[in-house]
Amino acid sequence: MPGSSLGTHFHIVSFGESHGRAIGAVIDGVRPGLSIDLDLIQKELDRRRPGQSKVTTARSEADKVEILSGIFEGKTTGMPICMIIWNTDQRSSAYDKIKDMFRPGHAGYTYLAKFGISDYRGGGRSSGRETAARVAAGALAKQLLAKRGISIIAYTKEVAGVAVSTIDLNEIEHNSLRAPDAEAAKRMEERVIAAKAEGDSVGGIVEVVVRNAPVGLGEPVFDKLEADLGKALLSIGAVRGFEVGNGFAAARLKGSENNDPMYKEESTGRIRTRTNNAGGIAGGISNGEDIVIRIAVKPTSSIRKEQETVTVEGKSTMISVEGRHDPCICPRVVPVAEAMVATVIFDHLTRLQLLRKTNRLKDLRDTIDQLDHSIMLLLSERQSVVKQVGAFKKRSGRQVSDKGREQEVLRKKAKLAKEIGLDETFVKELFQGIMKLSRHTQKSDIGKRRS
Ligand SMILES: Cc1cc2nc3c(=O)[nH]c(=O)nc-3n(C[C@H](O)[C@H](O)[C@H](O)COP(=O)(O)O)c2cc1C
Repeated sequence: MPGSSLGTHFHIVSFGESHGRAIGAVIDGVRPGLSIDLDLIQKELDRRRPGQSKVTTARSEADKVEILSGIFEGKTTGMPICMIIWNTDQRSSAYDKIKDMFRPGHAGYTYLAKFGISDYRGGGRSSGRETAARVAAGALAKQLLAKRGISIIAYTKEVAGVAVSTIDLNEIEHNSLRAPDAEAAKRMEERVIAAKAEGDSVGGIVEVVVRNAPVGLGEPVFDKLEADLGKALLSIGAVRGFEVGNGFAAARLKGSENNDPMYKEESTGRIRTRTNNAGGIAGGISNGEDIVIRIAVKPTSSIRKEQETVTVEGKSTMISVEGRHDPCICPRVVPVAEAMVATVIFDHLTRLQLLRKTNRLKDLRDTIDQLDHSIMLLLSERQSVVKQVGAFKKRSGRQVSDKGREQEVLRKKAKLAKEIGLDETFVKELFQGIMKLSRHTQKSDIGKRRS
């Protein structure tokens, strides 16, 4: 019967209604002693928050998260973590006019038919507002994954038939649709605004990419990775379709076209695939390539345009839904999708770590190899940012060396080392080496461009 929880080892329970006192999440299964950055959790909630642009609802809530338990002095205690977000801008009277009617496409009829009682205000538990609880829980998983070098990024790929033609990750947070293509985002926005002016709404497609996930996430046969990801993502309101890799398009290909050719990468010794039609999952288990998922988001059901419906007594009538609704849900689904994927990936990572908790030297060494691999990928990512900083310094005529900043970086690293139980001197020396490499890269890059 109960359906408000997800995950086995990173177990979340979501609670609360849209127009009740609060919504929130309880997370059970996080080990003690992990540093948690509450600002990062708040930042994710701010991304989901309504009232941010012309293409989202005007409901305006601070969505300030409060931690009631499970975190002490910035660290997890191993006890259930309860996060709460108070509802502060409910306008329940907006629902009085339609409280005796079912909104086509919304959950009013099915909730009432099943439970015999339903909080009609704002859709109660079926409201998009419930997803703030998921974002809070997912943000915690996301930051714990980031510490392992695993990143999760989602963006709007298509809206109202307009698809992106480039993927520029730096663009995502700079347009109202959260699309990685500024030009496409403009055309998407025009279509959303036009639909809104007609009292209508539009849908779209959101893509999620998980980078640097280790090989081995997913438990055949019922907890295959794509099965758990599908369940988590399809549980988001308005999400009606799910695919991994090339998904439904695979049905139109031949085996020779769809298979991803395999090879051994000499530099790392890893087994890789040349293409990624499988979307990083084979046999329900991650294969180490990027995990690529897409979800279809339906057009918002609450629209001003008149539609045929019935009253709770079963009488025919017409309905026009006023109030504050998202004319396109995609940009707000982006952080929710990231949160759901983070929850599932962290759950499976914990399960994989338990499986690997063994005394077999080979398994332990494999884990070390994977961690080393993550460290190297992160270093390579760092180097590309270092080059961008170098280009900026060149443009603005700044010196490559900045002793003050370097001292500050070293001070912060030493502080973090102490917090997470690493040797401070070692960490300082490590970062002195890394910063030497940065200086060298920037100097030779600038030199190259000058010559
Ligand atoms: C972030 C978010 C915001 C949403 N905003 C609205 C909204 O403003 N109006 C609306 O009718 N539905 C909205 N929805 C969708 C409803 O929650 C969803 O359509 C409803 O629960 C019925 O479920 P179903 O569409 O999955 O069948 C939103 C969903 C999400 C995830």
